[in-house]
Amino acid sequence: ELKENTVIVVLGASGDLAKKKTFPALFGLFRNKFLPKDIKIIGYARTKMDHTEFLRRVKSYIKTPTKEVEEQLEQFCSICTYLSGQYDQDAPFQELDKHITEIEKNRKEGNRVFYMALPPSVFIPVSEHLKRNVYPKNGIARIIIEKPFGKDLGSSRKLQKALEPDWKEEEIFRIDHYLGKEMVKNLLILRFGNEFLGATWNRNHIDSVQITFKEPFGTEGRGGYFDEFGIVRDVMQNHLLQVLTLLAMERPISFSSEDIRDEKVRVLRAIPAIEPKNVIIGQYGKSLDGTKPAYKEDDTVPKDSRCPTFCALVAFIKNERWDGVPFILKAGKALNEQKTEIRVQFKDVTSGIFKDIPRNELVIRIQPNESVYLKMNSKLPGLSMQTVVTELDLTYRRRFSDLKIPEAYESLILDAMKGDHSNFVRDDELDASWRIFTPLLHYLDEKKDIVPMEYPYGSRGPAVLDDFTASYGYKFSDAAGYQWNTQSTPNKL
Ligand code: BG6
Repeated sequence: ELKENTVIVVLGASGDLAKKKTFPALFGLFRNKFLPKDIKIIGYARTKMDHTEFLRRVKSYIKTPTKEVEEQLEQFCSICTYLSGQYDQDAPFQELDKHITEIEKNRKEGNRVFYMALPPSVFIPVSEHLKRNVYPKNGIARIIIEKPFGKDLGSSRKLQKALEPDWKEEEIFRIDHYLGKEMVKNLLILRFGNEFLGATWNRNHIDSVQITFKEPFGTEGRGGYFDEFGIVRDVMQNHLLQVLTLLAMERPISFSSEDIRDEKVRVLRAIPAIEPKNVIIGQYGKSLDGTKPAYKEDDTVPKDSRCPTFCALVAFIKNERWDGVPFILKAGKALNEQKTEIRVQFKDVTSGIFKDIPRNELVIRIQPNESVYLKMNSKLPGLSMQTVVTELDLTYRRRFSDLKIPEAYESLILDAMKGDHSNFVRDDELDASWRIFTPLLHYLDEKKDIVPMEYPYGSRGPAVLDDFTASYGYKFSDAAGYQWNTQSTPNKL
């Protein structure tokens, strides 16, 4: 349940993440009256600035389309304060503690939520100083942390070890913001609430599963961070693997967070480390028309960088349900479109009455335009027995047109405040996910002769991509030029 008498401290309040995600999400929750009435929010960071400058930054990424929202934003600002201080000294954290104690003066308890919107380099000192100087004396503590959780299994364990003496696992909320996305949260319901899907959800009926992440922009100023991590660590080891886990796990005994996370860990442990032979990597070059820069032209990127900005790889799951079914993960920056989707391709119908009939495909669109559609064969209306690919279609904006889909961060911050861990990453889960990726990451880091394939900015990725997916059995069918219809006008045949 949601606790009153709570103070939220955003560490790293002057940074990018706080500005773009944390504060807009807090405002969204505040405005929709999801936060406790007496909530207070404190920003803390190294940057010296006055209250006005702090509020200017907080407001910079919040849209105020109407007078009402504008007024709500002013109210929101009145519950926010800012303190500046170093990340490795006791004195400023003691100041912070004093400031919070002042707020808590007439409260019967004092619950404190610490949101770490911080670069990895200061992560450990801040968590230690918080524990030593600002840990609640009469109330609960929660610490929300953000990736990167290390760079491989070893560094992730080191980070974990550093947190362990100070914070209990139930106090820690490791964010993977994909777990806050509406469609990702729907996966368990779709799978376990629908008998026809549940019954076919296995190696007997499913031929391959693809999870695709595409972004139409490059690193644009984030090259410094990105070059150290690369696309595999940036989105695959976390966001895409989370999606895979939810698609592949067994049914949890209940929706409680530990039951869900137990099953997630179990399926992760059945996935052997990714083998380099099942991987292709790419890096974007200039766009074909020359207007968009190559990755290496980013000033913050070394000129000889071998950092992958694109990767396609295949994971296998060694259990009864999935043995032999390729789970193809694809992720890239500077591609032709923005889209994250899951594509489950079913097996061919057994031969006999049809010559060449396309496979069923279940497509789950995570973003944009949330939707679930099942491509299926049907008789073309008329006098002949011609078949046509059609779809069963649940498009959210048509079906749920008057419901607002919450932002991932809104949903997750609220969960953390309620103490619900279901959509956060558990320590053993993090360990299991790094184990799957670490050998590949070390291989790519060490083998200097592996150079990513270049693809033009704005393209679909390296030219070999389609051959790669085809080699795992994926059948592309452009049957009668099938196109999923995102508009509400009828499809023309
Ligand atoms: C972040 C990555 O975790 O996720 C970014 O660091 C990426 O590189 C982002 O752009 C994608 O998130 P979303 O919600 O826009 O799909």
